[in-house]
Amino acid sequence: MDALEAILTRRSIRQFTDQAVSEAVIEDLLRAAMSAPSAGNQQPWQFVVITDRQILDTIPSIHPYSAMLRQAPLAILVCGDEHLETHKGYWVQDCSAATQNLLLAAHARGLGAVWLGIYPRMERVTGLRKLLGLPEHVVPLALVAIGHPAEHLPPADRYDAARVHRNRW
Ligand SMILES: Cc1cc2nc3c(=O)[nH]c(=O)nc-3n(C[C@H](O)[C@H](O)[C@H](O)COP(=O)(O)O)c2cc1C
Repeated sequence: MDALEAILTRRSIRQFTDQAVSEAVIEDLLRAAMSAPSAGNQQPWQFVVITDRQILDTIPSIHPYSAMLRQAPLAILVCGDEHLETHKGYWVQDCSAATQNLLLAAHARGLGAVWLGIYPRMERVTGLRKLLGLPEHVVPLALVAIGHPAEHLPPADRYDAARVHRNRW
């Protein structure tokens, strides 16, 4: 699958088989995430790889739209590390780019994944900090549920010419 095909056919997958994701593939996903562009190449990210069934089952009590984690064999939490920020204020954009890379890499590897928003919902930030023991300078931005897909969704063509402005509004 080439890059454009991966971008155009990726969908949020919320149903998974119980097959585990191999360590080699988890490293591929993290390598893709860490290949993202970042402001001044500051790379302000940290990742928490979650495969513990009890932890995955607890997260829906913190995050109201994450029920699929009870089925997912894996989730990766993308966090911003304020101590690694050299270009203040850009960590959200940097970590969002890393999250999108992770989603696309999962799709390219035949996995299904869905982005679960954490920051700026502070109750989710606080809840995950407590559950996972994150330090105060580490802010969870996005949790990505990942697994072998048990549903297949068609591509969504969202091209809208009315949203494109040429040279001026
Ligand atoms: C910032 C952000 C937060 C999201 N949060 C959730 C979530 O909490 N639960 C969920 O099931 N999907 C979540 N999604 C996935 C969106 O619902 C999904 O991307 C959107 O409906 C478009 O569908 P598609 O990804 O299949 O193209 C989130 C996506 C983004 C970018």
